[in-house]
Amino acid sequence: MNKPIVLPIEKIETNTPSIKTFFMKVPLIAQQGIPGQFLMVWTFNDEIPMSLSHINPKKELIGITVKKVGSSTEMMHSMSEGSLVGVRGPYGNGFKIAGSRILVVGGGVGMACLFPLILQLVEAQKYVTVLIGALTKDELLFQKPLQKYTTRETFRLSIATDDGSMGFHGLVTELMDETLQMETFDQIYACGPELMLKTTFNIAESQNIAFQASLERYMKCGIGLCGSCCINEQIVCKDGPIFESNVLRTMHEFGNSKRDPSGRLISITD
Ligand SMILES: Cc1cc2nc3c(=O)[nH]c(=O)nc-3n(C[C@H](O)[C@H](O)[C@H](O)COP(=O)(O)OP(=O)(O)OC[C@H]3O[C@@H](n4cnc5c(N)ncnc54)[C@H](O)[C@@H]3O)c2cc1C
Ligand code: FES
Repeated sequence: MNKPIVLPIEKIETNTPSIKTFFMKVPLIAQQGIPGQFLMVWTFNDEIPMSLSHINPKKELIGITVKKVGSSTEMMHSMSEGSLVGVRGPYGNGFKIAGSRILVVGGGVGMACLFPLILQLVEAQKYVTVLIGALTKDELLFQKPLQKYTTRETFRLSIATDDGSMGFHGLVTELMDETLQMETFDQIYACGPELMLKTTFNIAESQNIAFQASLERYMKCGIGLCGSCCINEQIVCKDGPIFESNVLRTMHEFGNSKRDPSGRLISITD
């Protein structure tokens, strides 16, 4: 769906002090969307990319989970149930379901695109270990809804906080290192800040484990026309945003540089 449709927000959930989830009724996207895909969301001041964090074809509902970081996301956070937003999509390739012993690593709002993937993996009765990382316990995203699956033998959930307020005291990549010393996996999925992704990729490579990551670049059209989202030869909105190890190995810009809104290459610092 390339033409934006304007529709009311059905429900808003506050997840953390800086993150809210917005639910909309969009039957076509709810039926066609897969985990890892994203929407272009028109907030009446700008259009920004947001991953699908909830996909419910039965209720015809979709959700996006938005961290307040600047003017458009602040605008979204000021909205109420019934406020109007424009959406087009779903865009991008989405995650490929692969492997049987799976490690999912999410940093901060990166858990947004991983959440529907985790539900799909649980439904497919895969052996799944999820590591959620955040700065503090208050910023942990989707820990509560995932907690209920920990009664299953095939599901494990571990937490890392930078300040040690819950779970492992340190970075989620350090927890990942520790987890890999105790268990074996044949597939890793990751989403979060790019330097975290680069570390998770390096760890996966060192242990020869298949890896998929969701990458972010500045997006304008979202459909492969403008070139603003390029990483080396890859167009993130069209070839990605999910990339596998064989492609990540060829991306020299991954973890090093990105383009600003004017197209200038700048260094990645977070
Ligand atoms: C495929 C994809 C999926 C994303 N999914 C989510 C998600 O599920 N939840 C979430 O909170 N955030 C997500 N983001 C990031 C989100 O798009 C930005 O945080 C948002 O655009 C910031 O807009 P702003 O006006 O509030 O902030 P600004 O102050 O304009 O910018 C803050 C930061 O957001 C980046 N940003 C701004 N506009 C864009 C844009 N058009 N495209 C890409 N980055 C931009 C800037 O480069 C800067 O680093 C995703 C980004 C991409 C590319
Ligand atoms: S955002 Fe225009 S090509 Fe990707």
